[in-house]
Amino acid sequence: MATRFTYTSGSFGTEVDGEFERQLLAARSAAPAPLPHVIAGREVAKGPVFARVDPANVEQVASRAHAAGPELVDAAVAAANAARAQWRRTPYAERCRRLRAIAEAIGARHLETAARVSLETGKNRAEAVAEVQEAIDLITTYCDHMEENAGYEAPLLSFVEGERNTETLRPYGSFGVICPFNFPFALTIGMSVAALVAGNTVVVKPSEDAPWTGALFAELALPHLPEGVLNLVHGGVETGRALADAAVDGIAFTGSAAVGREIVAKLQGGRWARPALTEMGGKNPAIVTASADVRKAAEGVARAGFGLSGQKCSACSRAIVLDAVYDEFVEQLAEVTASFAVGDPADAASSLGPVINERAYERFARAVADAEADGRIVAGGRRPDLPGFYVEPTVVADLPRGHRLTREELFLPFVTVTRVATLEEAIEEANAIDYGLTAGIFAEDQGEVDRFLDEIEAGVLYVNRGAGATTGAWPGTQSFCGWKSSGTTGKGGLGPWYVPQFMREQSRTVV
Ligand code: ALA
Repeated sequence: MATRFTYTSGSFGTEVDGEFERQLLAARSAAPAPLPHVIAGREVAKGPVFARVDPANVEQVASRAHAAGPELVDAAVAAANAARAQWRRTPYAERCRRLRAIAEAIGARHLETAARVSLETGKNRAEAVAEVQEAIDLITTYCDHMEENAGYEAPLLSFVEGERNTETLRPYGSFGVICPFNFPFALTIGMSVAALVAGNTVVVKPSEDAPWTGALFAELALPHLPEGVLNLVHGGVETGRALADAAVDGIAFTGSAAVGREIVAKLQGGRWARPALTEMGGKNPAIVTASADVRKAAEGVARAGFGLSGQKCSACSRAIVLDAVYDEFVEQLAEVTASFAVGDPADAASSLGPVINERAYERFARAVADAEADGRIVAGGRRPDLPGFYVEPTVVADLPRGHRLTREELFLPFVTVTRVATLEEAIEEANAIDYGLTAGIFAEDQGEVDRFLDEIEAGVLYVNRGAGATTGAWPGTQSFCGWKSSGTTGKGGLGPWYVPQFMREQSRTVV
């Protein structure tokens, strides 16, 4: 059984720190030859090569990979489709046994994997180590759900003599799995394993910002799976489009709302509509009322706003604060924000590493310019003079209601603070967006909390959570269902009703 690292007093301990650092430095000097695709168990080094720069030092290349065009994607889908029948017929207990073996294999290389994640994403060590644990826990949780439900087979009533009625959930066949950069290991594994445990085969496309992390998943998983059950193609948006256009039986996607909705539209077309399980963005609010513990609220908002440099769909990007505590909250949030250090993820003192790429780095500059013009920057706002895509955690107060910075997802360490007069107005402001993923409230008054829980339009709610006002969902302890433009699953990842969405129902009457 692999070690489960314990996070106490702000770290996983010096032994973990030392080994993580060693692994990260080793990974930095070991960018591999262009990564191949994996199709039917064989490496295929075809297609143009793209380079992933190291976001912490843009002079360096973190990894390189071949990009798959439609032909290679179709070949990978053909391999997945050829393996469908055998994998579907593999008893669920055997599928779980194999998948749990992958979890063991990941655990045995936990810190090496965390370092790989950190290299490609700029994630700090605590977040990288936690992400690998989350991947392990996702596998365990989804296998538990399959086993607890006896493979989703159940008897039904029978009123006709001699008839035996049962129902079962059956896999669709093959899934394309299109993965995000921000949790390139955990979410790639979460979506893939949910599809696999349900009896589907998969073609995985890792984020173009984290191909080496995706390749590590394949390396750890392939020895435990029959040929063709898991295939992997590298590439960017065009590769993802080709996968959504290919002959898969469904798509699981995590990423932006614009791309997600394009995928949903594609999967609605064709000879019949196929499932598109999407988890998309957020513009997540935290409401702070007059009855709140203001310090706890400031800490919760800062942690949820700046963890992973705000690049989580769950990040808190809007504090909506009642007039009575507005000034105090702004002051406290600015103070907590100033305590977050920006720097190299190899340094234990860094709370925020770089943002993911040049596009994000430039988006930050544009957001700051708009904030300076229309509001008041009370913390951050600069891009430190470091060799990577580093930006400061930033807080902007006093923007006019409805300003684009309070409505559009930025995916940056950028929190706006909006003043409101009443809780009713706060909830109205919180709901006035197209997204509905996570939301938090800080209030000691139970009536206020009850009203928030009833009226807020979001799938993941947190009350008085100083450890992260809107973030930190974990397999088996929260479900992660996006409402509105935040998702189409209706039953979120991490939770108990996710896996069944990779299956369709069949009832059987046998005489
Ligand atoms: N599981 C991550 C969070 O909730 C996305 O912050």
